[in-house]
Amino acid sequence: PRERETVLRQIAALKGERNATVLAHNYQVPEVQDIADLVGDSLELARAAANLDSDVIVFCGVDFMAETAAILSPEKTVVLPAADACCPMARMITAGEVRVLRQRFPDAAAVAYVNTSAEVKAESDICCTSANAVAVVESLAAEQVIFLPDRNLARYVARFTAKEVLPWDGYCIVHERMTADEVAAARRAHPDAEVLVHPECRPGVIDLADHVFSTSGMVRHACTSTAREFVIGTEVGLLHQLEKQCPGKVFYPLSNRAICVNMKKTNLSAVLRALERLKPRVTVPEDVAARARTAIERMLALPR
Ligand code: 13P
Ligand code: SF4
Repeated sequence: PRERETVLRQIAALKGERNATVLAHNYQVPEVQDIADLVGDSLELARAAANLDSDVIVFCGVDFMAETAAILSPEKTVVLPAADACCPMARMITAGEVRVLRQRFPDAAAVAYVNTSAEVKAESDICCTSANAVAVVESLAAEQVIFLPDRNLARYVARFTAKEVLPWDGYCIVHERMTADEVAAARRAHPDAEVLVHPECRPGVIDLADHVFSTSGMVRHACTSTAREFVIGTEVGLLHQLEKQCPGKVFYPLSNRAICVNMKKTNLSAVLRALERLKPRVTVPEDVAARARTAIERMLALPR
């Protein structure tokens, strides 16, 4: 393995040579977050991918995020340093299954969480992320909404809308494991802490939380809240960003088991290799990309 300082220097030099931007999701390992040009949640990273003027995007995250970047910026080279970094939830629904749903509910609009394949997005009317799911559903004219693939996010959205929400039965294997008992135990252990959880958590966990946010929503809230301590109900990678952005505050993971193995497949050597080779490249065939782009751009066009 190459020495860390050398790797860091090589990454910096190649970024310049290639006119590349490194985007990293909040769940990436600390060393990757620390070399990224932007660290954020799915929505922030999608917006960045749409607006960057670099030639290359190195996407440190999972496949659907890099696909979204490639759809929004087809003229750029988008590379995913860990070729096999996928989101298991995104694989819980196929484009064919969306088509069947649309035939069964012809009056319903279809909302695809960004954690889906490009093919699934292409069959949907609009995308959403955990940061804007309620606003996306409320923006639709239809009174009935197919919401896929996350049943927990669908149920969370249903709390805030009068529309009929029809959930698909997918879930995040990391957030699904968190329990209401863990929230109760964390409250006993840290009675002064605020409990922040992600909307991919189960309803029983959401019921006991103080606030529900996307990953970057948690960072913004923790920095401005008067609370000094927080229990964090999401993937543990976020703790690095929380500690960095909110110095002096203390963060406890709701569960030490909340690790997304796919988000941990990217390391500095993989980033360097990706910059050297401009591979593994992520591309989306233009017929699929064009339809998926419509769904993503509808989401991005909504007021913030
Ligand atoms: P955010 O958009 O809140 O960062 O969530 C992404 C994700 O994969 C959650 O598990
Ligand atoms: Fe997918 Fe869950 Fe990992 Fe996010 S944390 S990438 S939703 S498996």
